[in-house]
Amino acid sequence: MSYPKECVLKDCEEVVIRPLEDGDETLLTDFFETIHENDRWCMRYDTTKPSTIKRWFDNLGSDSVFSIVTLCNDVIVGHGSLHTREFGATKHVGRFRIIVLPEFRNKRLGTWILLDLVRTAMDKGLEALRADLIAGMEDAAIEALRKFDFFKRAELKDYAVDPQGERHDMYIMVKRLHKGWSDF
Ligand SMILES: CC(C)(COP(=O)(O)OP(=O)(O)OC[C@H]1O[C@@H](n2cnc3c(N)ncnc32)[C@H](O)[C@@H]1OP(=O)(O)O)[C@@H](O)C(=O)NCCC(=O)NCCS
Repeated sequence: MSYPKECVLKDCEEVVIRPLEDGDETLLTDFFETIHENDRWCMRYDTTKPSTIKRWFDNLGSDSVFSIVTLCNDVIVGHGSLHTREFGATKHVGRFRIIVLPEFRNKRLGTWILLDLVRTAMDKGLEALRADLIAGMEDAAIEALRKFDFFKRAELKDYAVDPQGERHDMYIMVKRLHKGWSDF
């Protein structure tokens, strides 16, 4: 895939997608500071901790994480990452996360980021993509992924807790990948 890539959002605003790179620490920290606690809670790491962000930059260039950012007027407005394993029974399956700044949601930015992650997963020869999503907290993502032929393959009742301690079901959503882009 060739980067930087210019994309036009639903409201005709132009953004640029490119891989995360050295020097983005402050921009990425500022981005996560503006994300609501409930959205950050669903992630696997606390992105308000400088050590979390530092680790991401220490791992830049690793084969197991592909991380992209979207910029608008030199501000990060979206982030996506694809995580793969180099060994073992699920190395053919990629996992990913996408997060978009609230004021940039529902403008197709999440879709642009998802398409790049799907393309990258296919280029890496992965056979499936998986996302674990929390019902009642990540409903926008659940709906968005359904539109892209992700299917709910399992439902774990009352598996997750929100910041207030309420229980929520977790959905395991999987998309089978094809060998060629034209099959997508
Ligand atoms: C999920 C998320 C990334 C979607 O980003 P986005 O830029 O708003 O997505 P898009 O505008 O590309 O929308 C994609 C599709 O999902 C649908 N969608 C988006 N938000 C929705 C919502 N709240 N309810 C129902 N459908 C929704 C859109 O209608 C769109 O379909 P369309 O193209 O047919 O209109 C964004 O809401 C977000 O950052 N949420 C918090 C973090 C999160 O839950 N991440 C998921 C982890 S993978």
